Amino acid sequence: MESKLFCWILLSLLILSCFVSQTNEKMQGQTLVYLYKSRLKQNFGVDTSLFKVINHVNEANVHPQVGLKEEDRIERLPGQPLANFSQYGGYVTVHKSAGRALYYYFVEAHHSKNSLPLLLWLNGGPGCSSLAGALLELGPFRVHSDGKTLYTNKFSWNYAANVLFLESPAGVGFSYSNTTSDYDKSGDSRTAADNYVFLVNWLERFPEYKDRDFYISGESYAGHYVPQLAHTILYHNKKANKTIINLKGSIIGNAVINDETDEQGMVDYFGSHAIISDQDVYQIHKYCDFSPNATTQSRECEASYGALEDNIIDINVYNIYAPMCFSSDVTTRPKKASILEFDPCSTNYMYVYLNRPEVQEALHANVTKLTHDWELCGDTIQVWRDSPSTIIPLLKEFMSSGIRVWIFSGDIDGRVPVTSTKYSINKMKLPVKIAWHPWFLNKEVGGYTQVYEGDLTFATVREAGHQVPSYQPARALSLIKHFLEGKPLH
Ligand SMILES: *[C@@H]1O[C@H](CO)[C@@H](O)[C@H](O)[C@H]1NC(C)=O
Ligand SMILES: *[C@@H]1O[C@H](CO)[C@@H](O)[C@H](O)[C@H]1NC(C)=O
Ligand SMILES: *[C@@H]1O[C@H](CO)[C@@H](O)[C@H](O)[C@H]1NC(C)=O
Ligand SMILES: *[C@@H]1O[C@H](CO)[C@@H](O)[C@H](O)[C@H]1NC(C)=O
Ligand SMILES: *[C@@H]1O[C@H](CO)[C@@H](O)[C@H](O)[C@H]1NC(C)=O
Repeated sequence: MESKLFCWILLSLLILSCFVSQTNEKMQGQTLVYLYKSRLKQNFGVDTSLFKVINHVNEANVHPQVGLKEEDRIERLPGQPLANFSQYGGYVTVHKSAGRALYYYFVEAHHSKNSLPLLLWLNGGPGCSSLAGALLELGPFRVHSDGKTLYTNKFSWNYAANVLFLESPAGVGFSYSNTTSDYDKSGDSRTAADNYVFLVNWLERFPEYKDRDFYISGESYAGHYVPQLAHTILYHNKKANKTIINLKGSIIGNAVINDETDEQGMVDYFGSHAIISDQDVYQIHKYCDFSPNATTQSRECEASYGALEDNIIDINVYNIYAPMCFSSDVTTRPKKASILEFDPCSTNYMYVYLNRPEVQEALHANVTKLTHDWELCGDTIQVWRDSPSTIIPLLKEFMSSGIRVWIFSGDIDGRVPVTSTKYSINKMKLPVKIAWHPWFLNKEVGGYTQVYEGDLTFATVREAGHQVPSYQPARALSLIKHFLEGKPLH
């Protein structure tokens, strides 16, 4: 699903590894994973500099938004079941002279929308659309197998918050720039700056949310986006000596946190889950250099990664026990669908749905008639300029600023698995406040949790893959409710 991620993580190894969808590349269908190795022309991996705020956020980027909210109101999506909450969708310009605009989809809460918090959701990649979060994971609707009609997600996160999905950066999904050279300037810093400008303008458009408690959530490579945006918000609040955005907390799942430990944790997970041999685990640890400074890898390392690739190619690495999708077609009639049983071909249905002209019209999307399709993880962005090897310093900053920090992990994801997250958190060397214990939902163990001094909560979600709300929607809703209410899981 988050196909660019593979291209990403292993950059530190100078091993370029990518996904293809064997059914139909354009469809971004069920991703069949394979890794391949090649020398990188550009060495992203050695950038160990910490994330820096681009200080280009100024008055010139804040524009009047009068009347735009009502224009963005979505009466009803094509094929949508009845619903009682308001939905909005549209563009916010983040750079006027370049003509750069980000697309958002916003669903207000089912109940108590005036008091529930505002929650931003970001998918990762880099290059993947947060509409995946909306239509495959935690949003109020999912797409039927006909690619035309929607069904209700009774575990939607808009039972807990007003939820804002943002396609970022420009070049992802419906978000675009009229200055196409912008796409080659993509990177973590620019993404955070644009996301921040988006938020400031969006809050002008929806002024009733200006003082609302605000939380940022995301998964996978959003492990970079979420803390970097939070950092940018804190920076600007401090600079202005006032609360411009009322940030209260951040939560990331199966997230890229610290390249070195993420990579080691992935290898160990494959080894401990009987996917690769002990011999290959041993060889990789012996011969691969996971440090952020590594510029080359030995032949032995590459050979062991070759074996790893051969062993994961035929499974869904994002949920090692999930069935695969073997058809790229939609059905003439909707198949019986269940929120509790994630359909492995769901990404195909979403692709077909979001590329329908009537759907785009209803969403107020693609108003400039872009030349490419809407894609889950597209290839408009080819260059990624900056990505620090770790975001741990940012997490520490939030903890010292009293910002709630939660990290969760679906425990059957092989891509950024629970071992990676545990190793990354261990790197922070935090004292434990509440010892490791199970948490429950409907008398079943929903996962395990441990709370650290400084208010960092780690929680696993049992039997969830990389996209936790897709695979365990009820547990995911319980998790987000506890996070938003600041209540420990138990
Ligand atoms: C919408 O609200 C009305 C009135 O409160 C209620 O009767 C109806 O069941 C709700 N519909 C849905 C789909 O929640
Ligand atoms: C991009 O260009 C189109 C066509 O000129 C224009 O309608 C649109 O408003 C521009 N987008 C932005 C964000 O300025
Ligand atoms: C920041 O604002 C507070 C009151 O809101 C004021 O007391 C303080 O002097 C301000 N600090 C600076 C550096 O302007
Ligand atoms: C990486 O390089 C920097 C700067 O040369 C050095 O300070 C650091 O110790 C190196 N880290 C590792 C893990 O080798
Ligand atoms: C935008 O609309 C054009 C024309 O209908 C279509 O060809 C293109 O695939 C669409 N792009 C996106 C990103 O939706």
